[in-house]
Amino acid sequence: MKNYSSNRATKFTESVIREMTRICLKHQGVNLAQGFPDFPAPAEIKEAALKAIQSDLNQYAITWGEPNLRQAIAEKFAWYNGVSIDPETEITVCCGATEAMVSSLMAIVNSGEEVIVFEPFYENYGPDTILCDAKPRFITLHEPDWHFDEKKLTKAFNNKTKAIIINTPNNPTGKVFSREELQFIADLCLKWGVLAVTDEIYEHILYDGAKHISIASLPGMRDQTITINSISKTYSLTGWRVGWAIAPAPVTASVRKVHDFLTVGAPHPLQEAAATALRIDRSYYQTLAKGYEERRDFLSRALDEAGFRIYRPNGAYYIMTDVKHFGFSDDVAFALYLVEKFGIATVPGTSFYSRSSLGATKIRFCFPKKRETLEHAAEKLRNFKNERDK
Ligand SMILES: Cc1ncc(COP(=O)(O)O)c(C=O)c1O
Repeated sequence: MKNYSSNRATKFTESVIREMTRICLKHQGVNLAQGFPDFPAPAEIKEAALKAIQSDLNQYAITWGEPNLRQAIAEKFAWYNGVSIDPETEITVCCGATEAMVSSLMAIVNSGEEVIVFEPFYENYGPDTILCDAKPRFITLHEPDWHFDEKKLTKAFNNKTKAIIINTPNNPTGKVFSREELQFIADLCLKWGVLAVTDEIYEHILYDGAKHISIASLPGMRDQTITINSISKTYSLTGWRVGWAIAPAPVTASVRKVHDFLTVGAPHPLQEAAATALRIDRSYYQTLAKGYEERRDFLSRALDEAGFRIYRPNGAYYIMTDVKHFGFSDDVAFALYLVEKFGIATVPGTSFYSRSSLGATKIRFCFPKKRETLEHAAEKLRNFKNERDK
């Protein structure tokens, strides 16, 4: 049969993370691969969605977002991130942060322009740059503290650089970028006229006193930043597909056009309920972070006892580990061994790197799970240890 795939579609593979979820289901394992909670979302937000459907908010919303939600996004961005924005001209509501990122990149990047991406990166950023025909330039975050080399970053900026993608708190490393690091990046963006595209969907999941800083709040950066966020992680609503991009009005005008023709809009009743989510009592965020801190500590202990080398996260809900000392040099083989023999699904490190050598001995675990799920995982990790000790 004739090959109908576009060159574009052949340049990337299926998502490894979502494939691990399918393999996990086949082996009835514990899914510590794909980052979604297995516990309920807050009742008041679910009730708001039911109410919205009952009151017949069931037709298309305004393509760039329901006004009540845009207002709620602007209010929250002002109090939590310290940046005041105009909900009429500076927000595009999308189908999750996923679509917000693709629509934003497609709206700003011309074919052949360069986009700087820190690696390890959330695996979507690779295909995202391919879909907009950008040339990605990867800058490595070095373990154990996931710092970047300032000289290499400085050298990566040039006349062709259009944007730099930042993700803080970071998936998969758990790094929370410091004010100094963000200022360093901001200075380069300002010098070269480059847009910062920052994915902040884990902004409330912080540990050990870490503080989230939005690069848009740094002097001069408000007009050179696209801030991406969603309700997926903060309110445990990954299946609702409501996210947004905040950008200066002229950039937003382009993002809105791409968004409109890609998806028309995010689900209307869920947008209305998302406005309720964003106005939830502020104590919710402390409880959320505390709950995740307990889960992080529980899984870290279990991994440590099973002999994994762990990189302790300061934010987000993932733990990167190194497994070199187990004698595996192929992360995919190790991940398959863990899921097929012990029923623990994880993500092989290479899926977060452009150069596989950097991820070949790394494995990512996630922990947005009920205590009983994590206990089940700990039991399976003990089985793994017992097998190794034989
Ligand atoms: C860094 C990052 N950005 C975006 C997403 C996807 O967000 P959404 O569900 O809002 O599309 C994820 C999901 O794991 C993620 O880790």
